[in-house]
Amino acid sequence: MRPYEGYVYAYPHKTAYRPLDPRPPLREVWAKERTDALSLYLHVPFCEMRCGFCNLFTRTGAPAELVTSYLDALGRQAEAVRRALPDGARFVTTAIGGGTPTYLEAAELARLLDLAERTMGADFSATPLGIETSPATATPDRLAVLAERGTTRVSIGVQSFVDAEARAALRPQRRAEVETALTAIREAAFRTLNIDLIYGIDGQTPDTWRHSLDATLAWRPEEIYLYPLYVRPLTGLGVLGRDWDDQRLGLYHQGRDHLLAAGYEQVSMRMFRLPGTESDGEYSCQSDGMVGLGCGARSYTSRLHYSFEYAVGVRHVRAIIDDFVRLPRAAFGVANVGFALDDLEQRRRHLIQSLLRAEGLDRAAYRTRFGGDVLDDFALDAFAERGWVTDDSTRVRLTPEGLARSDAVGPALFSSRARDLMDSYDLR
Ligand SMILES: C[S@@+](CC[C@H](N)C(=O)[O-])C[C@H]1O[C@@H](n2cnc3c(N)ncnc32)[C@H](O)[C@@H]1O
Ligand code: SF4
Repeated sequence: MRPYEGYVYAYPHKTAYRPLDPRPPLREVWAKERTDALSLYLHVPFCEMRCGFCNLFTRTGAPAELVTSYLDALGRQAEAVRRALPDGARFVTTAIGGGTPTYLEAAELARLLDLAERTMGADFSATPLGIETSPATATPDRLAVLAERGTTRVSIGVQSFVDAEARAALRPQRRAEVETALTAIREAAFRTLNIDLIYGIDGQTPDTWRHSLDATLAWRPEEIYLYPLYVRPLTGLGVLGRDWDDQRLGLYHQGRDHLLAAGYEQVSMRMFRLPGTESDGEYSCQSDGMVGLGCGARSYTSRLHYSFEYAVGVRHVRAIIDDFVRLPRAAFGVANVGFALDDLEQRRRHLIQSLLRAEGLDRAAYRTRFGGDVLDDFALDAFAERGWVTDDSTRVRLTPEGLARSDAVGPALFSSRARDLMDSYDLR
């Protein structure tokens, strides 16, 4: 089983979504859901540059008018969605992702936060707010707006502190720019700083990896994400494809050991945290409700996951954004593409999302939610035989070696329906 099949940050993957026919009104979609502890997600599909590895839904070089039209459209969407939610719906956490949300200028960020608070009803004085940023866009004026408005977590993509590696990953950035951004973020005093690093870059060695890890630790960030590099079709590095599983596994073990020795705890294969750090609204599968706004955002109810169309290729991303900004308010009141989760898919989702966290799956919580035992519903023997999964009377969890193989374990647990849909997805 190859170790790097795919990053399962949510099950099912967006490529398993299909056009919904008929398109259900959001009012119906949300009517029977628990909505007193929702999370809100806002997607900003703009970046300064298109990094060679990145397969997120984003475009570069958006002119100011397009950004304004996008915020206008988000406003219409927020109104439509808020109306569709039951009275009493409440957000307990908010995340703004991308792309690069801080591609927006300070005044535009303020407008986005207004929309989340005034239209959607989020309250950043009482609930966590996280945002992603990049070295070139984490400027003091933008950070000041974010701090003043109650942002609790800022996550910055550094990828590598070695300039030559950043270039090899087709992300031209300079170390000095990274350090300036980190200084500005620390000066703005957010509760949580997260730094993203990538391993498996062409030319990266245990020595250069250690250099990036140490440069990260010098900031003592509350959270660190270590991402194995993936190259995908339709991204700038996609054409390089070569087998570098061993390099990534080696660097993973080195990175994990280094961070554990520095006092961090491991939350999942990618995520490390300083003990005592408050969780700033990271995903929890017990609260399934997520309301996404923006053209690349997904929304989750317990029975339906939905979004707009999805693409990676430049032309299609641009076309989808251009369509999105022209939509009238009424068009935002229905779900467009999606994936319906029956009872077994809901159980499967819970299993996958829990098992891929270091703490594993709580068997009693599973029984309370679904009735029955998780090991009667799903056969995990093949993983147990490899020494990747273990269980006792209270929990089912990955062993350290299983955690290292999260990107093999997760995809192996997909239903055949989700897998067939993903395989037949026409990647654009
Ligand atoms: C939305 S970006 C972070 C914010 C900002 N856009 C930036 O790049 O600085 C999310 C993170 O996912 C990781 N990532 C994206 N594509 C990846 C890939 N193909 N392989 C490994 N990690 C990837 C990167 O570490 C990146 O920082
Ligand atoms: S890694 Fe970040 S900055 Fe680079 S293209 Fe992806 S979202 Fe944009």
